[in-house]
Amino acid sequence: MGINSKHNPIGFFDSGIGGTSIWKEVVDLLPNEDTIFLADSKNAPYGEKSKEDIVGFCIKNTEFLLKKGCKLIVVACNTATTNAIAYLREYYDVPFIGIEPAIKPAALHTKSKKVGVLATRGTLTSELFNKTSELYTSGIEVIEQHGDGIVDLVETGKINSNELFNLLEKYLIPMIAHNIDYLVLGCTHYPYLIPIIRKIVPANVTIIDSGEAVANQTEHVLRVLGKLTETKEANHYFYTNVDEQVLINFLPLDRLNIHVTHKNF
Ligand code: DGL
Repeated sequence: MGINSKHNPIGFFDSGIGGTSIWKEVVDLLPNEDTIFLADSKNAPYGEKSKEDIVGFCIKNTEFLLKKGCKLIVVACNTATTNAIAYLREYYDVPFIGIEPAIKPAALHTKSKKVGVLATRGTLTSELFNKTSELYTSGIEVIEQHGDGIVDLVETGKINSNELFNLLEKYLIPMIAHNIDYLVLGCTHYPYLIPIIRKIVPANVTIIDSGEAVANQTEHVLRVLGKLTETKEANHYFYTNVDEQVLINFLPLDRLNIHVTHKNF
């Protein structure tokens, strides 16, 4: 089956488990689609690596998913999207859906005219993020904060640790002091932290991410290309290059046909 068949899977990749937050949104919207998810946890965090390294990881991940016959690839990582999607779109024929911090809706709806963005260093320093931010935020103060250290803690199973709570407090309290009323979570690992972030930021601060928008865009592109499938029993294949348990902890194994494999890639 070539990548043109509508029965082929949708591919996803991330530097680790974060992209599963996006995968869940897509699977909820498109429950008939088979999926293949590649978690490159061995190389996390991408957000603290050079652009050249990030592009190299993205090429490796894309080729892996293309060998598996993916008909569309969701780059389920803001850092990978903002640093490498232009390159990927130029060199590969398969359609790519990327994810970027949801700065546009935040800028549109803020009343205090102050918006906080928590994202990786790699995303915040990228040309794509800065262009988007410039385009939509005239008259609005954007308080950017890199999340150094957060992804490492999530990847090592320390979501509920004091260490992570303290780090989030350190990053978020200055934003609150600036009177933000929107907090944009610009990294796919961060939606898993919303219950903790909620304990730190006041109730008037709206927290947003881009998961739903990515799912809608994936549906739209597949529909336009005539590649939505009617498969009834979908299968979901996950590949990770670290201990499988790290990924398994984030997956709804009781609900869906999920297969997790360790592989060195
Ligand atoms: N989950 C990723 C993102 O959305 C990457 C985090 C990282 O590896 O630094 O940016």
